[in-house]
Amino acid sequence: MPKLPESDSESIATAPSEEAKIGSTTDTGAPAESDRNSLTVGPDGPILLHDAHFVNQMAHFNRERVPERNVHAKGSGAFGEFETTEDVSKYTKAALFQPGVKTEMLARFSTVAGEQGSPDTWRDPRGFALKFYTTEGNYDLVGNNTPIFFVRDTMKFPHFIRSQKRRGGNGLRDNNMQWDFWSLNPESAHQVTYLMGDRGIPRSYRQMNGYGSHTYMWTNEAGEKHWVKYHFHSNQGVAGLTDEEATKIAGEDADFHRRDLYDSIDKGDFPSWTLSVQLMPYDDAKTYRINPFDLTKIWPHSDYPLIKVGTMTLNRNPANFFAEIEQAAFEPSATVPGIGFSPDKMLLGRVFAYGDTHRYRIGPNYHQLPVNQPKAVEKHNTYTQDGPMAYHHHGDEPVYAPNSFGRGYADNTGPMPEGWETDGDMVRQAYTLREDDDDFSQAGTLVREVWTDEIRENFVKTVAGHLLGGVTGDVLERAFAYWKAVDEQTGKKIEELVRSGGPNANPGGQPEAAVENAEAGTVAESE
Ligand code: HEM
Repeated sequence: MPKLPESDSESIATAPSEEAKIGSTTDTGAPAESDRNSLTVGPDGPILLHDAHFVNQMAHFNRERVPERNVHAKGSGAFGEFETTEDVSKYTKAALFQPGVKTEMLARFSTVAGEQGSPDTWRDPRGFALKFYTTEGNYDLVGNNTPIFFVRDTMKFPHFIRSQKRRGGNGLRDNNMQWDFWSLNPESAHQVTYLMGDRGIPRSYRQMNGYGSHTYMWTNEAGEKHWVKYHFHSNQGVAGLTDEEATKIAGEDADFHRRDLYDSIDKGDFPSWTLSVQLMPYDDAKTYRINPFDLTKIWPHSDYPLIKVGTMTLNRNPANFFAEIEQAAFEPSATVPGIGFSPDKMLLGRVFAYGDTHRYRIGPNYHQLPVNQPKAVEKHNTYTQDGPMAYHHHGDEPVYAPNSFGRGYADNTGPMPEGWETDGDMVRQAYTLREDDDDFSQAGTLVREVWTDEIRENFVKTVAGHLLGGVTGDVLERAFAYWKAVDEQTGKKIEELVRSGGPNANPGGQPEAAVENAEAGTVAESE
């Protein structure tokens, strides 16, 4: 331990330690005169404005944050590799999914509603955002640890998020507001069931699955199309925290999941996930009994079984959190040939939202930051140019298209390879209901057929505990009706427990044994 200087005046005279031999500079590269003392008139006099190094330190400090993400603000990430171990080339021509191809990638996991300093262990879905640096451009798959979502039209998303964040008046999160929104939007039932169940608080980011959630399109070389859903199954197993454990951890270590991910990679214990997909032939979508583009629904595995694709392994921690995680910009709009969108109204809204928020949060040239650059592409040939902090320029190449000086002009015509046909009047209407489309059936199946008795009992306590946290009046009555519509028995138990004023300690969550049983059993139906 080096001897500490007794005072500043003594330390001025102290020679720099071995570690601190490289002198600091100003931002313009000249030797900095001092990082300790501002320039003053005599040692006790006022600070001088022409101390440019000091002024720059102050001014830059005031600007050293970018706004936090409006949602998914608290997150953690790591780099790794995706390896396609199987042959799915008859379904997609995407380069990253050809047999044997290895692709560098970045993953960021997050909670949704909490701010940057919020505890990792709050009950919330977890973001599962992936960026693949493919040879055909970056492919971003921005999913969650749940295969479904709360709403099915993007129009509702800002309202949903506001109901989960802080109340206008008192600045507090508010269970009454959350249940008000959920119970007035019964399409949320499947996701809320999932959220209040055994997977509502993952034990770690390593021990949760990830889902693309939406339906996407895969196209092969011959132009044949399939609708696809992505499932990343954790090779560490899936495990949850009980409410009690989560609350205790929140007080002891708000960064519990970030620390776990970082430490395990740091010591060489690399987490991995197996990617499987469900594939639906293009024409099936027209007649399938469930709207296959409705984000509140899963496709039962009995209809569309899982097909293995490859393995994702995270093996490198960020060297600088701000540069590589905070400035990382994931966007569902980033696709590559062989992968397209679907008519999911949530997905199509997201295709707009992310680029737009990045232009605000990071700046219009966010693609030029090292973490966001399409680094595996040989030549990045966009016509967008200039703007704040532009770093990549095209010299004297033509700045317009078409041109006669050689720089390419993209002009594909005709049907889009990853498109679909559509026709109809312009309307503002919910999806047309199909035979098995309703808000509650799949949630009810999850409760009755997938969960064990133990998971169901804990679910009742978790929901009751949440309702007892300030849900009142009509909202409470609607919440009871909501759960009875999911499952009559379970709904009655929730109502009884709430009316009796318990459970005091709201144990919530599930002991691991229950999670394991579910894994071994029929849980795959909703995965
Ligand atoms: C983050 C919008 C639905 C997963 C974000 C952000 C916005 C946003 C504005 C912040 C991005 C940033 O500042 O970097 C929306 C809208 C949605 C929607 C408008 C409505 C359709 C979803 C759904 C999922 C999802 C359905 C999952 C299936 C994520 C994830 C992040 C995120 C994982 C964090 C990305 C990261 O780690 O940087 N969303 N979102 N979102 N969203 Fe969504």
